[in-house]
Amino acid sequence: MSDVLVLSYNVSADDFASAGAASAAVKKTLKQLGFPADFIRRVSIAMYEGEINMVIHGGGGVAEAEYSEDSIVITLSDKGPGIADINLAMQEGFSTASDSIREMGFGAGMGLPNIKKQSDDFSLTSEVGVGTTLVIKMFAGS
Ligand SMILES: Nc1ncnc2c1ncn2[C@@H]1O[C@H](COP(=O)(O)OP(=O)(O)OP(=O)(O)O)[C@@H](O)[C@H]1O
Ligand SMILES: [Mg+2]
Repeated sequence: MSDVLVLSYNVSADDFASAGAASAAVKKTLKQLGFPADFIRRVSIAMYEGEINMVIHGGGGVAEAEYSEDSIVITLSDKGPGIADINLAMQEGFSTASDSIREMGFGAGMGLPNIKKQSDDFSLTSEVGVGTTLVIKMFAGS
């Protein structure tokens, strides 16, 4: 069995100054571990979108990255308001972002569809009033 490195990152709610810090840390670790640049780019895009969703919609949360020899599994979990209709949330262009969030350049409703596109394995589960968990797995070389 190959070794797995697990690292956790805290993601603060509504903290736009540090938003993206967890994905930046994962990007740095992937570079240090010697993963290919295109894989790192794909992981960074997907994780950044998930992280920003936790900041904007999820009330903050925790990101966990499991690094293996040729893949990464990222779990983003929050105890925010949850998502009532996952199929609707997955549609391109659907967003509940407020006007002030839209003024900051978010809220196109493209985050979740993009994460799915980038991922080799994608799971989004949520319960209203309980929270949301997003698990994405990506293989280097796929
Ligand atoms: N962690 C979360 N907690 C609660 N709701 C969420 C969460 N992540 C996504 N959502 C809901 O799903 C919708 C769609 O998310 P998506 O990332 O596709 O778009 P967006 O964040 O609104 O805009 P964009 O990502 O393009 O800036 C959000 O507007 C929000 O209603
Ligand atoms: Mg988003």
